[in-house]
Amino acid sequence: MSAPTVALVVAMAKNRAIGRGGNLPWHLGSDMRYFRQITMGKPIVMGRLTFLSLGRALPGRTNIVLTRNAAFEAQGAIMAYNLEEALDVARKTAGKDGVDEIMVIGGEDVFRAVLPQASRIYLTEVHATPEADTWFPELDRREWREVSREDHEPGPKDDYAFSFVVLERVQS
Ligand SMILES: NC(=O)c1ccc[n+]([C@@H]2O[C@H](COP(=O)([O-])OP(=O)(O)OC[C@H]3O[C@@H](n4cnc5c(N)ncnc54)[C@H](OP(=O)(O)O)[C@@H]3O)[C@@H](O)[C@H]2O)c1
Repeated sequence: MSAPTVALVVAMAKNRAIGRGGNLPWHLGSDMRYFRQITMGKPIVMGRLTFLSLGRALPGRTNIVLTRNAAFEAQGAIMAYNLEEALDVARKTAGKDGVDEIMVIGGEDVFRAVLPQASRIYLTEVHATPEADTWFPELDRREWREVSREDHEPGPKDDYAFSFVVLERVQS
């Protein structure tokens, strides 16, 4: 099988906000369901703070947690001490499990570091402008092509309207 695609999975507001106080700046039940559906069975790569915000390893997925602290242990997850190590473990896991994507799920530090190697972004656009302390990096829109978009009004468990968008890197 060819090398798995490195994909970012992010929910971002109009002002590029992705986090506040160690959590999400919104509650969007529909996006949580979508996240589960697109990541299930695939290796997920995240920073230590995102792992802490989830509160546990996510079931049905190999959880790979980045930290520079050799003493930190995330129960139920594989620790990685630099990006290449994390992606290497993720590639091997994807190969073993027969899946074609590595899902990088944040936060800001990890998105910034992985962006040059990513070729797909599952972007949930959150139709809001919340206060935040964590942001998604600016994308050069010439490098990315929108391949799908679904617009949704808020459901009963959603704070805001949102759109599920998929971006793919333009091949040069
Ligand atoms: N909206 C979304 O889609 C979304 C997704 C994910 C997270 N979030 C939000 O984002 C916030 C967390 O993001 P964050 O940027 O503050 O933290 P983060 O990226 O989750 O974690 C940062 C930590 O990860 C480790 N790390 C990062 N890059 C590394 C590298 N290259 N090598 C080794 N270790 C590395 C370091 O851990 P050590 O300090 O242990 O060395 C660093 O302090 C929360 O508010 C969360 O809710 C939002």
